Amino acid sequence: MNEHMNLTERAIDMRVFFDRKADGYDDVHRSFMETKTALTEALPDGTRRVLDLGGGTGLELFPLFERFPDAVVTVIDVSEKMLDALRRRPFADRVRPVPGDFFEVDFDSDYDAVISTSALHHFEPDDKLILWRKIYGCLRPGGLFLNADKISADRQAETDAFAFYRKNKGSENYPHIDTPLAPSTEVRLLEDAGFRNVTVTLTDRDNYRLFRGEK
Ligand SMILES: C[S@@+](CC[C@H](N)C(=O)[O-])C[C@H]1O[C@@H](n2cnc3c(N)ncnc32)[C@H](O)[C@@H]1O
Repeated sequence: MNEHMNLTERAIDMRVFFDRKADGYDDVHRSFMETKTALTEALPDGTRRVLDLGGGTGLELFPLFERFPDAVVTVIDVSEKMLDALRRRPFADRVRPVPGDFFEVDFDSDYDAVISTSALHHFEPDDKLILWRKIYGCLRPGGLFLNADKISADRQAETDAFAFYRKNKGSENYPHIDTPLAPSTEVRLLEDAGFRNVTVTLTDRDNYRLFRGEK
């Protein structure tokens, strides 16, 4: 039994939501390619073993495999339909899709990098810290965590986002009411999880940042 029932509930809602969205997903999310490409550019030469959290249909893996054709990428995603689209990609033989909730699935170890794009802006800070520690634990020494994700502009906007989420819990679209954290909260949690030299970079979008931490 998961001690964080709110997370289990949220993951199930996510699966239902993204199973429904999978067919038209790429048409909407291709507009984020600049951010996804920036993430690949931030990876060091020689990157090979990669874990992608919430990799979905694998859009961020196009630039990644262009730069690192020999990479091997494990993709954990709760939506089987999103993973079905990933399985049809030209680089599918370099990818290992793992269906499941990234709070529940065991991670392998010794990754060169853990990456994620647009997938981690739905969690309370305490829950995020659990995930950040799990990510830290699966990296090799010197490995990198790169997360390109939505942010709240500041702490007040973060508080407001969670208040809005709670108020609308149960409404039709609530699983996808975003609760992004402020950059200062993200940095604190990354440092609390053990990451060093944490940096925050502006992407092509005002409400997105690329967070980078080293083990
Ligand atoms: C907005 S999509 C991003 C997909 C891809 N990374 C991209 O940038 O195009 C978010 C993905 O995260 C997955 N996801 C959300 N919560 C999850 C969880 N708790 N465990 C595993 N996957 C999750 C969803 O199923 C979905 O495929």
